[in-house]
Amino acid sequence: MDLILGIETSCDETAAAVVADGKDVLSSVVSSQIAKHAKYGGVVPELAAREHLSAIEPVVSEALSAANTPIEKISAVAVTNGPGLIPSLLIGLNFARGLAASRKFPLIGINHFNAHIYGAFLDGNIQELEKAENYPMLSLVVSGGHTALVVSQADGTVSLAGTTLDDAAGEALDKAAKILGLPYPGGPEIERAAKFGDPAKFAFPRSLTGTTGKPVAEKDRFNFSFSGVKTSLYYYCKNFAGGAIRDKLLADTAASYQEAIVDVLARKAFEAAAEFKAASVVLSGGVACNSSLRERFRKCAAASKLKLFIAPPKYCTDNAAMVAAIAWRRYKQGRFDNIGLDAFSRIESFEA
Ligand code: KG4
Ligand code: ZN
Repeated sequence: MDLILGIETSCDETAAAVVADGKDVLSSVVSSQIAKHAKYGGVVPELAAREHLSAIEPVVSEALSAANTPIEKISAVAVTNGPGLIPSLLIGLNFARGLAASRKFPLIGINHFNAHIYGAFLDGNIQELEKAENYPMLSLVVSGGHTALVVSQADGTVSLAGTTLDDAAGEALDKAAKILGLPYPGGPEIERAAKFGDPAKFAFPRSLTGTTGKPVAEKDRFNFSFSGVKTSLYYYCKNFAGGAIRDKLLADTAASYQEAIVDVLARKAFEAAAEFKAASVVLSGGVACNSSLRERFRKCAAASKLKLFIAPPKYCTDNAAMVAAIAWRRYKQGRFDNIGLDAFSRIESFEA
């Protein structure tokens, strides 16, 4: 049995996990910094790095003891080295490098995007990743930091079909919550406020979909832009509602705003699935916790007769189980990184 220790510090969650043979999650510990960042209405990179620094050792120790695994039993250390916030990434990466150097463990740097895709296969369905019939696979990774459409092939090659040109979908939800006077993180708050609202009440713009009267350039067919919808909410609150948005108006506004984002995400994901002749669709990342989005994906997948894999909420948001699980394949292939492994902030490579 190969036990891989996974470490994840790309944003504001310090996480460590032990996963056996790339499929059995023996432990998954996540220490969230949400409370620390809440008063600023978003993640403050330097604060995040400081919090990671004090949490990393206890979180790794807890993951090892919860898995009943002494450190000597670990076969390799896998760590997210990008994309993400550099000051945050460096804390986990340096900790992993230190462990690898002192204990002579193989070191495996993991792409955070690819790891998120694995989140949809950690609840006893990892074998689906081995089935050729599920490929090409179209994944939407949607979180506070990213919005990306990724196409994976059965031979392991991965390519980026589209990404956001400005804000990530989660960021658009977080900023909308701030405009509406709701706490951080905004995604769950908007979802709660939207529950009894009318999603068709206000027509917030759907950028880069061809529905705003502007034709979409071919290169942007599968790209996203969420800064327009956020600005539109800002002016709507300021001019139309005079800033005071409460009760039924708040519910309708939140529901309509959420609907604009859900609509764009589902529309683009399923258009990309058709374009790339996908056999299955994956939904993962923090925003994939949203029940409207999950429901819309279920409907679209049923309508287009595509297999659908949605990450369970505990593996939607940042965690290290997905990092340890994805690393197993590289461990088996003996493809390790050297001790000088560096962090990167933006999507660079999609090697699985
Ligand atoms: O994956 P994640 O934990 O961290 C990043 O890599 O960014 O995602 C966090 C994002 C935040 O923007 C948060 O507002 C959003 O996921 N989120 C949600 C929900 N739960 C978390 N968005 C919509 N609905 C939710 N229920
Ligand atoms: Zn993430």
